[in-house]
Amino acid sequence: MATDQYHEPPDELSQQVRSFARMILSLIEEGEAIDRYEQRISLEKDASARAIMRAAQKEEFKHFSMDLEWLLRKKPVWREIAQGVLFQDGDIVEHGADAEEEAH
Ligand SMILES: [Fe+2]
Repeated sequence: MATDQYHEPPDELSQQVRSFARMILSLIEEGEAIDRYEQRISLEKDASARAIMRAAQKEEFKHFSMDLEWLLRKKPVWREIAQGVLFQDGDIVEHGADAEEEAH
């Protein structure tokens, strides 16, 4: 059902919040697709089939990344925390704690 993505009455939610909910759901679905391909690739014996699955998974990486970027543009505090965690060397948990504490 199309309204399963909402946790509050959809008609009371703004257009912006409904778009945000759709993109969160899309991010989840892209993540699930990445996981499906990861599992299929790990079991597939045929090299040419694996190559196609790898190409498909790369496309899902792109979709996931575009969804995430869209969401981060809509939520500056999330973007700020993500900037403190993503693409950093070192302890992920430590970076997360620092980024959360420093976020406005
Ligand atoms: Fe996708």
